[in-house]
Amino acid sequence: MSFISVKNVWQQYGDQVVLEGLNLSIAEGEFCTLVGASGCGKSTFLRLLLGQEVASKGTIQLDGQPLAKEPDSTRGVVFQRYSVFPHLSVLDNVALGLELPRSGLLGRLFGAAKRDARDQAATLLHKVGLDHALDKYPTQLSGGMQQRLAIAQALIMKPRVLLLDEPFGALDPGIRKDMHALLLELWRETKLTVFMVTHDLSEGFNLGTRLLVFDKVRIDPHAPGAYGARITYDIPLNSDRRAARVALDSLKTA
Ligand SMILES: Nc1ncnc2c1ncn2[C@@H]1O[C@H](COP(=O)(O)OP(=O)(O)O)[C@@H](O)[C@H]1O
Ligand SMILES: [Mg+2]
Repeated sequence: MSFISVKNVWQQYGDQVVLEGLNLSIAEGEFCTLVGASGCGKSTFLRLLLGQEVASKGTIQLDGQPLAKEPDSTRGVVFQRYSVFPHLSVLDNVALGLELPRSGLLGRLFGAAKRDARDQAATLLHKVGLDHALDKYPTQLSGGMQQRLAIAQALIMKPRVLLLDEPFGALDPGIRKDMHALLLELWRETKLTVFMVTHDLSEGFNLGTRLLVFDKVRIDPHAPGAYGARITYDIPLNSDRRAARVALDSLKTA
């Protein structure tokens, strides 16, 4: 049985069909990279996987069960920008995920439970290379550090699926390389299933175990909204080649 199964999924807003007839079967631990022209529905597909929207037609199942109607802790998400809370410190941004669901009406956690949440957050922040910045605020961080924080925030709830929407698109190429190495390390360690949208084809080829290409194949000039994008290529990527490329890249930047 596949871990995530997408069956004949369509998404439509009013008259505009955005996605049509998507079918996918994803094994646990796969790292899918998603590419396609701007506006073809990649972010829409991630919102469907997150459970933020329900598909107009078709079904998405996780572990044989229909997706929960709302985003929950099985799925974490990182956007290109603004994933973190600007008014919270780095440590609080990450600890918050652990504190909120348990604290209920009482507000924040106290005592040992609170210390435990903060310890877990600090450990994860150490792993993403932010242990020197626990008390800083997001505006005091560089773009790359903010994305490290956003990744830690998404991972603290130990999701099984990580959704990344052009997470490194706003970063300089050198910083992006560091982020690739970090992401691969976290992926190997956690055995997460990853979906990552990128506009950088080489990023898509280098990072993923599987490249999904979204494209609109049918176009009616008289009815621009009539057809949506499909997955036109679904390319397995050789892991040895990926490892080789990452190794080469790190040599180049060393
Ligand atoms: N909530 C919405 N309501 C109406 N149209 C939407 C909504 N979300 C996305 N769209 C439209 O769906 C299309 C695909 O958008 P999007 O998924 O953001 O594409 P991509 O991420 O590939 O650039 C766009 O034409 C966009 O305007
Ligand atoms: Mg998008």
